[in-house]
Amino acid sequence: MKQLKILVIEDEKLIRWSLEKHLSSAGYKVITAETGEEGIKLFESHHPEIIFTDNKLPQMQGLEVIHKIKSLDADTAIVFMTAFGSIDTAVSAMKAGASEYINKPFTFEEVDVILDAVKQNLEITREVHVLRRQQKATVTFDNIIGESLVLKQIVQLAKKIARTQTTTILLLGESGTGKDLFARAIHAESSQSTKPFVTINCASLPETLLESELFGYEKGAFTDAKQQKKGLFEIADGGTVFLDEIGEINMSTQIKLLGVLENRVIRRVGGTANIPVEIRIIAATNKDLKKAVEEKTFREDLYYRLKVFQITLPPLREHREDVPLLADYFIKYYNNQFKKSIKGIHKSAIGLLTNYNWPGNIRELRNVMERAVILETMSELQADSLPGEIVHLNVHSEARRVEAAEGPSPGEKPVSPFEIEIPEEGLSLSGLEKQVIKQALNMAENNQTKASKLLKISRDTLRYKIKKYRL
Ligand SMILES: Nc1ncnc2c1ncn2[C@@H]1O[C@H](COP(=O)(O)OP(=O)(O)OP(=O)(O)O)[C@@H](O)[C@H]1O
Ligand SMILES: [Mg+2]
Repeated sequence: MKQLKILVIEDEKLIRWSLEKHLSSAGYKVITAETGEEGIKLFESHHPEIIFTDNKLPQMQGLEVIHKIKSLDADTAIVFMTAFGSIDTAVSAMKAGASEYINKPFTFEEVDVILDAVKQNLEITREVHVLRRQQKATVTFDNIIGESLVLKQIVQLAKKIARTQTTTILLLGESGTGKDLFARAIHAESSQSTKPFVTINCASLPETLLESELFGYEKGAFTDAKQQKKGLFEIADGGTVFLDEIGEINMSTQIKLLGVLENRVIRRVGGTANIPVEIRIIAATNKDLKKAVEEKTFREDLYYRLKVFQITLPPLREHREDVPLLADYFIKYYNNQFKKSIKGIHKSAIGLLTNYNWPGNIRELRNVMERAVILETMSELQADSLPGEIVHLNVHSEARRVEAAEGPSPGEKPVSPFEIEIPEEGLSLSGLEKQVIKQALNMAENNQTKASKLLKISRDTLRYKIKKYRL
């Protein structure tokens, strides 16, 4: 559990000092400021979750401080310290967004009671965020684009599994193939769609934090656990937990997860009670889990529990026929976003897109289309709005085909791998030539004879050009 940070803004030295001492000994990280201005600066650099601010400060008043901080981060909890009897000011402070107020002089006991309430509120805010995060991104199968047979079959299968309530699903596939998208669509299609969809990236947290995020903890489970906290499994009860990058979880969390899958109960960190949870777990990874099992970094029993229903999303290069459709879909999306009105894709660009290998899969296509829509000045998307590597890789694959056929047969018309659209500002022919030669040399592993064959020029010409371009 993260240590909470408290900022104390108070000009009276004694109060500042005693609050600091009390709060630090209670386990908080405390920073202090004497003026409102200094307080705001510290707030911006340290992002404390809780602020104690006095009202009567030199220059900037406490009320102003509250306004400013709330405009910077509405979630910050502010405790307003005010002189006894100034009830009007306290009311204004609450209106401005303070969560609590405390009358001076106060006892530490009063401070502790108020802190308990503040922390409970922070926890609720956190839960609200978790819920909002999943609500914002409602994705359905309608958002999954593709007419290829493989994709259609996968969608069909996924829809079927979606209807089973708590069946665990393992999503496999290279990065950018749509695992996240499928997880959300499955949830939306299921009968639990009105319940939470909670996602956590297992690679993003250190192991102890991951455990307490997933399972929650009881008060006193460790020094900072002043209060019990629900984990994501409890928050998601009735819905879906999406465990992204499952290949990254450590052994101890793996055992606990196995327990959840087998018994459908969780136990909070530091707790003894078994809390039943009704959830579907969808796990995803782009790692080879089977290999991880062989290497003993992933438990075999957990692996088999997870892969009851396994869906492997194909890399984009294995369903290229979907590229034009996806590209069109992203053009519409980015037209809307960037207020453009690109009508479609020029055929030369479609050829390039379809031939490209897409190592980053659909995410890469999406990014390429975003960039292209921004750059494009014509009504149709042109090849020159595509990034260099897409043009080059096409030279690559074409040349490979030629190589495989061991050079062009006589009389055969050499096929042009791509059409080049010359942009209005012009194009450097020698620059292009240099790039093509570089590619050929790479492919031929610097064997000049081979490279010259790829380029259909004599070896001497190639040598001359290598010198010319200082390759
Ligand atoms: N079939 C599809 N139709 C439309 N958009 C898609 C499709 N598949 C993926 N996308 C989009 O491609 C991007 C990447 O997909 P997603 O985040 O689901 O990939 P991932 O498999 O989870 O990748 P990673 O392993 O890197 O997390 C997202 O913007 C997603 O919306
Ligand atoms: Mg993902």
